[in-house]
Amino acid sequence: MRDAAPQTIYLADYTPFGFIIDSVSLHFDLDPRKTRVKSRIAFRPNPDATDNTFFLHGENLNLISAMIDGTPVTPKLTEAGLTCDVPDAPFVWEAEVEIDPTGNTALEGLYMSNGMYCTQCEAEGFRKITYYPDRPDVMAVFTVTINGPHPVLLSNGNPVSAAEHVAEWHDPWPKPSYLFALVAGDLVAHPGSFTTKSGRDVALNLYVRPGDEGKCAFGMQALKESMKWDEDVYGREYDLDLFNIVAVDDFNMGAMENKGLNVFNSSAVLASPETSTDMNFERIEAIIAHEYFHNWTGNRITCRDWFQLCLKEGLTVFRDSQFTSDIRSASVKRISDVIDLRARQFPEDQGPLAHPVRPESFQEINNFYTATIYEKGAEVIGMLKLLVGDDAYAKAATLYFDRHDGQACTIEDWLRVFEDTTGRDLTQFKRWYGQAGTPHLSVTEAWDHGKLTLHFKQHTPPSAATPDPQPQVLPIAVGLIDQDGDEVEETNILEMTQAEQSFVFDNLGTRPIVSILRGFSAPVVLTQDLSDADRAHLLAYDTDPFNRWEQGRILARSSLMAMILEGKKPNKDWLKGIRAVISDEHLDPAYRALMLGLPSQSDLARALAEDGHTPDPDIIYAAVEATRAAMAKSYANLLPTLYRRHTVSEDYEPDAIQSGKRALSNAALSLLTRIDDAAAAQKQYDAADNMTQQLSALANLIHAGKGSKAVQAFEAQWKDDRLVMDKWFGLQVMEADPEEAHEVVETLTKHADFNWKNPNRFRSVLGAFAAHHGGFHHASGAGYRLLADWLIKLDPLNPQTTARMCSAFQTWKRYDADRQALIKTELDRILAQPDLSRDTTEMLTRIRGA
Ligand code: BES
Ligand code: ZN
Repeated sequence: MRDAAPQTIYLADYTPFGFIIDSVSLHFDLDPRKTRVKSRIAFRPNPDATDNTFFLHGENLNLISAMIDGTPVTPKLTEAGLTCDVPDAPFVWEAEVEIDPTGNTALEGLYMSNGMYCTQCEAEGFRKITYYPDRPDVMAVFTVTINGPHPVLLSNGNPVSAAEHVAEWHDPWPKPSYLFALVAGDLVAHPGSFTTKSGRDVALNLYVRPGDEGKCAFGMQALKESMKWDEDVYGREYDLDLFNIVAVDDFNMGAMENKGLNVFNSSAVLASPETSTDMNFERIEAIIAHEYFHNWTGNRITCRDWFQLCLKEGLTVFRDSQFTSDIRSASVKRISDVIDLRARQFPEDQGPLAHPVRPESFQEINNFYTATIYEKGAEVIGMLKLLVGDDAYAKAATLYFDRHDGQACTIEDWLRVFEDTTGRDLTQFKRWYGQAGTPHLSVTEAWDHGKLTLHFKQHTPPSAATPDPQPQVLPIAVGLIDQDGDEVEETNILEMTQAEQSFVFDNLGTRPIVSILRGFSAPVVLTQDLSDADRAHLLAYDTDPFNRWEQGRILARSSLMAMILEGKKPNKDWLKGIRAVISDEHLDPAYRALMLGLPSQSDLARALAEDGHTPDPDIIYAAVEATRAAMAKSYANLLPTLYRRHTVSEDYEPDAIQSGKRALSNAALSLLTRIDDAAAAQKQYDAADNMTQQLSALANLIHAGKGSKAVQAFEAQWKDDRLVMDKWFGLQVMEADPEEAHEVVETLTKHADFNWKNPNRFRSVLGAFAAHHGGFHHASGAGYRLLADWLIKLDPLNPQTTARMCSAFQTWKRYDADRQALIKTELDRILAQPDLSRDTTEMLTRIRGA
């Protein structure tokens, strides 16, 4: 039932809906195969609309009856919904439809997961529940009754009444349909409570499947911390008597911010020391914060249309990063965010999927929940805050909440509160929302008798989305470090607006070393002609923790590039510089652990391609392995102490201090494993009493080729824990040798517990494989074929998860002609499938190009 010719939707075509909704009531009679949904919606003509066609979205609905003001009507049904003649005055629309939650494998709309009913409506899933104007600018007050034989029956807002097998809910806050949620099942509540700063008592619950009660405490704590933080930092209070979170096993994304009833992928909320790693805990804390923060940035103020998605997502990612920076280490968070931006957003912005933070057109909105909209969208807000300053940022945010509460807004509304607060003209800044592509920034220095001139040039490579990019506003944070390692000039924010621009620092004694783009003040690719010696100096002395790390990373990258291109040995000065940093006991262990990281293989492939070379995945893999071996040898006398000193012996806490220590001891362990015959890893595996230690030991054992016994033991220990088994599946793929990775995947996909219809399990194997650079890009093409086979299999069931995984192919033009030909064959093979989903078709057509 797909459109023959996919339709493209344009931002420029926006028009308001012809009607206003005064109230909505929904009634559900739950049944696994035949759920009945009755809707009663009070419409009246919208005086601001020019088009008064009465069109309601609806997909896969079986219409039982429809009435207007109590009189039966016969609407005209189409693939996408219905139209009907309606009075030119207020009227009440009533309809009854039948839907099939069990048959809903796409996990969008109302579906079933392990016997429980669950909904996912963002972006356009509500139309699979009932006929409705399923667009974010139509906001309404909902009343919901649920009839079903389940102990727990939940919807948005506050409970009105509950009897056996029936519950009534009322949400007083007008909301768009994408924030609707319903959950029903045999669930247990982990309760909590929070008192807002104005004294409102809020009941909190985390609903989970029986058996998962022991994994709730951390999520509940994170929720309370998020509620407090949003009050303290943004002055935002929660606005209902109840806040519920539900954990569900089958979920396409991480989590969803439905009003008063957040729904979470169980992997994004359930945690215990025995089953979750430090990284899991940190991610859970951030996601809970993110979805909670949406209550103001997304729910109370929503998006006018889906082109404005970054208005809620970019801003909310920015807010959750601020939260994590505040409660953990700000520099560690910033470095991790930049690593992530370069791993996910840069390839997107520099390849066939490039699009602006606010796109101008799309076919399938689900394909636009991208790293560009999220991560670059958050970077844009960070730049805005740097440019206007913290106080003006706070004032503008408050004005945004005051002025737009209850509205469906645009990026223009967001920028206007900054213009009104500061008097600045943000016309040029707005290009960050409209232009695709990563700006390249280069800088040259001139030194003349105490005067240092920095000359900057910016250039954004043209793309199909933005053929003629114009100069953007770049906040460039610069500091100066002298030869003794002292800071002679603290951080200045230079504001670059032209294609070329110079900035002068005067009255300097000796020539300093320039520390540029501190804190990664703008999401650009920087070229700075700095000698290795100067970089080593900044690695040792820069007062900006980000740039200190960055110099180490650049040195590592040039060392790797020289190995790859010229067959050189790892750079000794870099090894020495890193040794000094990791030995510095004054530095945060988490920060030192980051210093032991290397650019990813895929980052190296991108850097090589950027310099005009054709990356060879085998050579890249070998260079990384040789570098790790050289690190292990060079730090041999340091590693045992580094490892032991940071091994935590106290009771497990997932906090920043303990997890930082474990990160460093485990980073040391992975090098140690290369010189001690995996003895320490085996010992750690045998003694581990938490998942962070157990999993890191297992990873090292597998990587060293000594994992088979531990792999078996791990499976025997954890076979009944779904989330831990996802790790077991994923780790074997991640740690596989490139030569064997596709066979490992083939074996794992035949495992009895490889339930490929579950998105987490599918991702744990196929997602890990798509991210395994050497294995996926195996010269035989076996990797490409394997992924394509699975995408073809999953697409008819779950287009959204299939389409997201297609991005594995987005970098294909970087590689050699043979690999490109192999990939093209697979892209064409998938595209030739009959009834390929709109989601996957759009992704692959864009990736493939003409
Ligand atoms: N609103 C999204 C969830 C969503 C995404 C619904 C795509 C429908 C389609 C939610 O707020 C979100 O952004 N979740 C992220 C996690 C977050 C921490 C960035 C996710 O699910 O990955
Ligand atoms: Zn979000």
